[in-house]
Amino acid sequence: MAERIRWGVLATGNVAVTFTKDLLVDPKTRGVDRLVHTVTAVASSSSAARAADFLKEVGAPEDAKAYGSYKELVNDPNVDIIYVSTPHSHHFQNVMLCLEAGKNVLCEKAFTVNAAQARTVVEKAREKNLFLMEAVWTRYFPLSMYVRDLITSGKLGNVTRVFADNSVALNPETTFADGTHRMVNPDLAGGALLDMGIYSLTWVFQCLYLTQPEAERKPPKVMSSMQKYEPTGVDESATILLTFPRGSQGDAHGVATTSMRVATNPDKKGTAGPGVRVQGDKGEVQIMPPIQRPTRTKLVLHNGLIEEKTWTPPGPGVGSGWRNGFGINLHPEGVGHGMFWEADEAGLALLEGRKESRLESLEESITIMEIMDEVRRQGGFTLPENIETTDYLI
Ligand SMILES: NC(=O)c1ccc[n+]([C@@H]2O[C@H](COP(=O)([O-])OP(=O)(O)OC[C@H]3O[C@@H](n4cnc5c(N)ncnc54)[C@H](OP(=O)(O)O)[C@@H]3O)[C@@H](O)[C@H]2O)c1
Repeated sequence: MAERIRWGVLATGNVAVTFTKDLLVDPKTRGVDRLVHTVTAVASSSSAARAADFLKEVGAPEDAKAYGSYKELVNDPNVDIIYVSTPHSHHFQNVMLCLEAGKNVLCEKAFTVNAAQARTVVEKAREKNLFLMEAVWTRYFPLSMYVRDLITSGKLGNVTRVFADNSVALNPETTFADGTHRMVNPDLAGGALLDMGIYSLTWVFQCLYLTQPEAERKPPKVMSSMQKYEPTGVDESATILLTFPRGSQGDAHGVATTSMRVATNPDKKGTAGPGVRVQGDKGEVQIMPPIQRPTRTKLVLHNGLIEEKTWTPPGPGVGSGWRNGFGINLHPEGVGHGMFWEADEAGLALLEGRKESRLESLEESITIMEIMDEVRRQGGFTLPENIETTDYLI
């Protein structure tokens, strides 16, 4: 019989709605029969009424609890694992709150604001013998597994370069004119790098770092350039060149770019070309944007083979009346967003007694935070001390 994973949801914003709706889809629709996810409680820092509205919106079980504070949630004995979905400025404090209360955690990206905070939460999780994982959902897509297999099987030959871009032309002066939105607000750890650049780095890392034997993975060298968004001082664009030592295969270059000024996918239909190109000496695989939720790949080999694939996430299907998506951008009826795969990995870890993800170790999350620290250092971009701190303030 399938075991039940009892989730608590900390914060009720946009991504919490998307994640929780996906979480409640029957895992059998994606061939998973060892577990079933349920939501036992949710907390909103605004009010218990907001938490209750959230439970209705996502279709949670009738007996799920609605709390008006995060502290009440972390002390609920009927919660096995907490999904943290506050702005990244708050991840460190919120994850520490969960861990101190003895709860396992799946925390949204960016994991924390800096590597020192990431190291501190990892140490706390280890001290308390709890599961902790950064919610970089893209890694858990079957599409990502296909791409990693192309690399490790040698089908692309020796992979020596990966380009990954995650840029959205957000027109910040008008879209975020008052400067309070988390994309541009330094008090909420705003800027393109931590919000969107993490996906470019995710692609580069899952292709050039995760695909190496664990003992041989080494942090890359970093060169970068950053452009600032003048009204608030956060980064509006970052371009990062990483050099990965890959053992006997030699070095490989990863080029990770992000911007809120220009777009990877200007018409939102993917006609402008790939968002990621993984290049080896036998050919390349292209991943069409959006690269955080990719659904199309194109393999192009020197031997003339061209193979295009579509990877629509499963879900309850046509006739279910169920729709998910992010914000106002809904997918066709019955199609999942794709966040359930990361939840499955977290749930399986709890069943198996594992304390971290198989596809992104905590060491790798820390290494990626170190890269983002270095890019911010090279770009002269610091955030307010109260959100960079490693002092647990509660
Ligand atoms: N994986 C993905 O695809 C994805 C997509 C979007 C965002 N994200 C990540 O998820 C996190 C949240 O993003 P979001 O789009 O859901 O943001 P959002 O809609 O602004 O929601 C954030 C929620 O955090 C809570 N919160 C607590 N303190 C806050 C503060 N000082 N200011 C604002 N909100 C505060 C609020 O919930 P309560 O009032 O209920 O406490 C708020 O609704 C970010 O770290 C972001 O990078 C991930």
